[in-house]
Amino acid sequence: MGRIYGKPIITQEEIQRRIRELGQRITLDYEGRPLILVGVLKGAFAFHSDLARAIRLPLKIDFLVVSSYGSRGHSSGVVKIISDLTEKIEGQHILLVEDIVDSGLTVSYLKKSLLVRKPKSIKACTLLNKPERRKTEVSIEYVGFTIPNHYVVGYGLDYENKYRNLPYIAVLDVSDQG
Ligand code: IMP
Ligand code: MG
Repeated sequence: MGRIYGKPIITQEEIQRRIRELGQRITLDYEGRPLILVGVLKGAFAFHSDLARAIRLPLKIDFLVVSSYGSRGHSSGVVKIISDLTEKIEGQHILLVEDIVDSGLTVSYLKKSLLVRKPKSIKACTLLNKPERRKTEVSIEYVGFTIPNHYVVGYGLDYENKYRNLPYIAVLDVSDQG
């Protein structure tokens, strides 16, 4: 390991503690209801897998792969589903799992387009929330951490598809890029 990339702002321990709390709340809220935990890839891969194991319910796992045109971090607002769910969601409770809600456009688009398939409910859980950058009103029912407007990497979040494997959340230093 040796080198630490960026300035860690949320440690591995803090992330894991918060995920246990979210898992307990979700377990209580969805008791007795059929739940599909839908990870939004790639960013949510780490959070989704830890959150799933913190929920004590017989849930189903599914994923969506989305791309927001204009990578380099910031979403242009045009969201495309590149790889769709494998489960039928009609009559099921859906919990979307995201790495971060920034402009809000991705979650807003996903909620709207999945509602057409008539799930019983559709809610969202995000590890990180950057409310300062919101461009659209969207309700996020479960939030891990609210953070200020900095570009962050780690624990699934990337810069040009790198740094996703850092076990903590860090603010990317310009000197780290490349
Ligand atoms: P949205 O702007 O809420 O639609 O978020 C779109 C996507 O942009 C998120 O799911 C992330 O993949 C990415 N994103 C937004 N802010 C950050 C950040 O600070 N670091 C890494 N990725 C980000
Ligand atoms: Mg994402």
